[in-house]
Amino acid sequence: MSIHIEAKKGDIAETILLPGDPVRAKWIAETFFDNPVCFNKIRNMFGYTGNYKGKRVSVMGTGMGVPSISIYAHELITEYDVKNLIRVGSAGSYQEHIKIRDIVLAMSASSNSGANELRFGGADYAPTANFDLFHKAIETAKRKHIPLKAGNVLTSDEFYEDNFESYKKWSKFGVLCVEMETAGLYTIAAKHQVNALTILTISDSLVTGERTSSKERETTFKDMIDIALELA
Ligand code: ADE
Repeated sequence: MSIHIEAKKGDIAETILLPGDPVRAKWIAETFFDNPVCFNKIRNMFGYTGNYKGKRVSVMGTGMGVPSISIYAHELITEYDVKNLIRVGSAGSYQEHIKIRDIVLAMSASSNSGANELRFGGADYAPTANFDLFHKAIETAKRKHIPLKAGNVLTSDEFYEDNFESYKKWSKFGVLCVEMETAGLYTIAAKHQVNALTILTISDSLVTGERTSSKERETTFKDMIDIALELA
């Protein structure tokens, strides 16, 4: 048992999917896993281990933001020997060509979070996806005929921004979309020399103001989970 996870050593697989929403974690386990077993209920941050196509795999919620995902990633890696951490989340588009329902792989994560500024004393660290997971995700998507986009994303500490136009600065520099966890995940994984990848589905657009319905989010989420589970 670690501070925030009540699992025993060995209860969690080497590969884990990490949605922000713990209820989504439960849904993924119940929808895609054979014989899912719950290993965590602390703070209702549900975690499950089961089998997918004969391979052992886990899923757990991370909560929202860099501090929350950093705590869970740290404990999963250092206390439970997790080696592959795959975030499956939603993001807001910063580009006209990144449409609602598109799937985006985060190659790298820019950030306005203070976490790495603190960690690196004001210098810039570039949180980056693991190449093997990234490459495998592209190959899997090709095989399944699921279109993908990939590039730099913004990990933001703000969901409700004071300045609605502030996204344009990032957009001009080629940032594809905004979410709230990847820079934290990639940094913690790199620190412990394990593998991380973020796969995102675009749920809203800051360019057009569109949003997906919850029904649409469910359908598109399935494509993203299909890719993520093949990485186990
Ligand atoms: N996740 C999904 N949409 C988002 C947005 N607009 N900002 C931050 N995180 C998000």
